Amino acid sequence: MAADAGRSVAIAITGASGALYATRTLAALLAAGHEVELVVSDYGRRLLRDELGDRVTLEQLLPFLLEKYGPDVRSGSLTLHSNRDLGATIASGSHRCRGMAIVPCSMKTLAGVAHGLSRNLVERAADVMLKERRPLVIVPRETPMSLPQLRNMVLCAEAGASILPAMPAFYQRPTTLDDLADFMAGKILAALGLEHQLYPAWTGHVGP
Ligand SMILES: Cc1cc2nc3c(=O)[nH]c(=O)nc-3n(C[C@H](O)[C@H](O)[C@H](O)COP(=O)(O)O)c2cc1C
Repeated sequence: MAADAGRSVAIAITGASGALYATRTLAALLAAGHEVELVVSDYGRRLLRDELGDRVTLEQLLPFLLEKYGPDVRSGSLTLHSNRDLGATIASGSHRCRGMAIVPCSMKTLAGVAHGLSRNLVERAADVMLKERRPLVIVPRETPMSLPQLRNMVLCAEAGASILPAMPAFYQRPTTLDDLADFMAGKILAALGLEHQLYPAWTGHVGP
């Protein structure tokens, strides 16, 4: 049974570094029983393989999530859309999609969202979130950043998006890359207004 039947969450993966943030976010949403609608850009596909290994193709993504994050991933549903399909459900405001995260978000896609270009499904679905005043979480990753890139983040923030840079914190004393990904995925779920237990709430001091 889905966490909120009939109301999906859209996730987009684009060609910026940080594939682990995307897989952790997907696994957490699925384990919580959400209906996830996934769209991956061409460079997002490449990123999955470059950073997680050649076997992590889009077609093998669900088996990878099950193996890495466990059987709870089966609690939700995963629907894959082509980035070229501007007729997909999430391209329309009438579709019951509760929010979207672009994780990670390349500077190219950031620019497309900032300027409302809707050149592909990632950009169109993000545009729909903004026009419908639904949560749009953008997880940009680049360093250093140029002035146009910084301005594009401001444009998106002014339009209502949450800018949630891929900047994991260290006060949780992470010891693995997965710890860092847990923190980012937790931040993303919180920004979408969703419950999670990916990191403990800050208690005022470091440690248990
Ligand atoms: C291995 C690799 C890593 C990349 N990392 C980044 C990155 O961290 N941030 C970024 O903005 N672009 C990065 N790029 C460049 C983008 O993938 C490129 O601009 C691409 O056109 C983005 O297209 P998309 O937004 O449709 O995925 C990277 C490319 C490759 C091949």
